[in-house]
Amino acid sequence: MYNFSYANPVKIIFGKNTIKEISNEIPKDVSVLVVYGGGSIKKNGVYDQVSKALEQHTWFEFAGIEPNPHYETCMQVVDLIKSKGIGYILAVGGGSVIDAVKFISAATFYEGNATEILTKQVKVNKAMPFGSILTLAATGSEMNNGGVITIAKTQDKLAFSLPVTFPKFSVLDPTTTYTLPAKQTGNGVVDIFVHVAEQYLTYSEEDTLFQDNMSEAILRTLVEEGPKALKDPQSYDARANIMWASTWGLNGWIGCGVAQDWATHMIGHEMTALYGLDHGQTLAIVLPGIMTVLKDQKAKKIIRMGKQVFGITGEADNVIIDKTVKKVELFFEQMGIKTHLSDYGLGGDAATAVADRIDKRGWKLGECQNITGSVVREILEIRL
Ligand code: NZQ
Ligand code: ZN
Repeated sequence: MYNFSYANPVKIIFGKNTIKEISNEIPKDVSVLVVYGGGSIKKNGVYDQVSKALEQHTWFEFAGIEPNPHYETCMQVVDLIKSKGIGYILAVGGGSVIDAVKFISAATFYEGNATEILTKQVKVNKAMPFGSILTLAATGSEMNNGGVITIAKTQDKLAFSLPVTFPKFSVLDPTTTYTLPAKQTGNGVVDIFVHVAEQYLTYSEEDTLFQDNMSEAILRTLVEEGPKALKDPQSYDARANIMWASTWGLNGWIGCGVAQDWATHMIGHEMTALYGLDHGQTLAIVLPGIMTVLKDQKAKKIIRMGKQVFGITGEADNVIIDKTVKKVELFFEQMGIKTHLSDYGLGGDAATAVADRIDKRGWKLGECQNITGSVVREILEIRL
């Protein structure tokens, strides 16, 4: 196990009817900006609950953060914050809204060109305080300090993470996810699965048994509860388990002391930027490809996953590996998320374009930094 240091300051408020608790979490002596997406919160009652909880606050709102949020939109919000003298932000929505608010909170105080937070990974030491109300279980953004923002002008989808962009609190009321379209429930479960895989399915040192067991618990939970949420969108228990699994998937706990991959995500971000695929869709295409092309490097962990998550036993190692990759693909398909480029009208040109972008960025991805552009092409070509 590698050495690590870890701190996470996010207060989690979990359960039914908990949105009202924000009135005690947000200071009353500053103006609040409520930031949300395309309007789902107005249809499912979340907006009304927020309005009621903020009755004693002075607050304004910004609607229209798009999925895969744009830098350009975020900067409109920065202008609004400055013009209204806002002192606290509340993000209400999925990962896109929370990520946007993280970026906005840092960009508000950054004196240079805020694209540098994305393109140069500059460190910003001050950010506006913010809290979140999560309505889509997927990203883990509710309990981490990272975000992903797209610069629309250049089609660059880039990640950032800053010590100052942890939410002060996040409200996780699983009932808010009852209204998710099936596609978003599926995308979310795939995203959580892949977050865990990125921190678990690496070369094996065989010395992180605790983290491996925790990761497998999350994966098994998704395999059990994901299909239940699709079948019965108002199953509180399924929604609650998936929501808590999403937080655990990327709040840093299972990543302590282990090797980490993240190639599936980096390749996926390029696919979203170029072709507009949902985040979860890109991951469902790429992960089975990575598991296949890098099966020797990842053999021990793929076999572990096959046995511990999918219950495959009594076979030769190479058979377990092939069956596990197939099980992962079938699980994503069972969640309603297609796993091949052709399912989205993409072909070999897309494989080449994405590979070229990885080369152009000079990236060598994966836990062994051996996934170059040509390996990316190989990965995507077997996913046509
Ligand atoms: O915009 P509204 O109208 O709210 O609709 C959203 C959006 O269209 C809808 N939705 C959300 N909650 C709903 C709902 N519809 C009905 N009922 C509800 N309760 O769902 C759509 C997708 O929302 P979005 O926030 O884009 O989805 P998600 O949470 O999957 O976030 C994806 C973004 O997060 C980034 C991704 O790259 C992508 O940009 N990620 C952030 C990470 C992080 N901060 O740690 C890590 C992840 O790997 C990921 O990269
Ligand atoms: Zn993700």
